Amino acid sequence: MRRNRQSPKVARWLHRRLTADGGIASELLDLEELALPIMEERLRLRDDPPPGAVRLSRAVAAGDGLLIVTPEYNNGYPGVLKNALDYLLPELKRKPVGIATVSAGGFGGISCLAQLRLVLLAMGAAPIPASLPVSRVGQSFDDDGPTDEGIEGRASAFLAELRWWTEATVRQRGPA
Ligand SMILES: Cc1cc2nc3c(=O)[nH]c(=O)nc-3n(C[C@H](O)[C@H](O)[C@H](O)COP(=O)(O)O)c2cc1C
Repeated sequence: MRRNRQSPKVARWLHRRLTADGGIASELLDLEELALPIMEERLRLRDDPPPGAVRLSRAVAAGDGLLIVTPEYNNGYPGVLKNALDYLLPELKRKPVGIATVSAGGFGGISCLAQLRLVLLAMGAAPIPASLPVSRVGQSFDDDGPTDEGIEGRASAFLAELRWWTEATVRQRGPA
């Protein structure tokens, strides 16, 4: 939710890739729009749920998979993302999660990737082995997508893996 944040460029492009190239129905959720208050209690225990948390919960529950795009802040992921996750729990059970990390520096946010995976595992989700670290986002992305050709290929491989794990999970779960 940082002022002049760069990560939405990556999120919007991946969302377009999922829809246009992958033929996958997906919804793009922006934590800034959800405007979640500081978590006072988990959603399922609230009788006065914040509307943004209800929307988040329904969207995550409805998805067969989840793709999180997060910037790296101080080698971690932003507090607003932890705040959002802490509202949830059953919505994430056995949910395949792909993570794209975004940084201004040259390491693509791989330190926050490890931390976010641990949190998701604790919640019963299934962070997939593949990831998409995006380095130097100020130069490597504009509003239309990546300006760095290497990202295209890495993103395709990452999305294919997320699709594989998601389809495998859907098959294992069986008919709804
Ligand atoms: C509080 C804060 C801490 C940051 N820490 C890191 C960091 O540890 N490593 C890094 O590569 N970039 C770091 N950055 C830079 C972000 O990666 C940069 O802002 C980038 O554009 C992605 O985040 P954004 O969506 O906020 O723009 C930090 C930025 C902020 C605001």
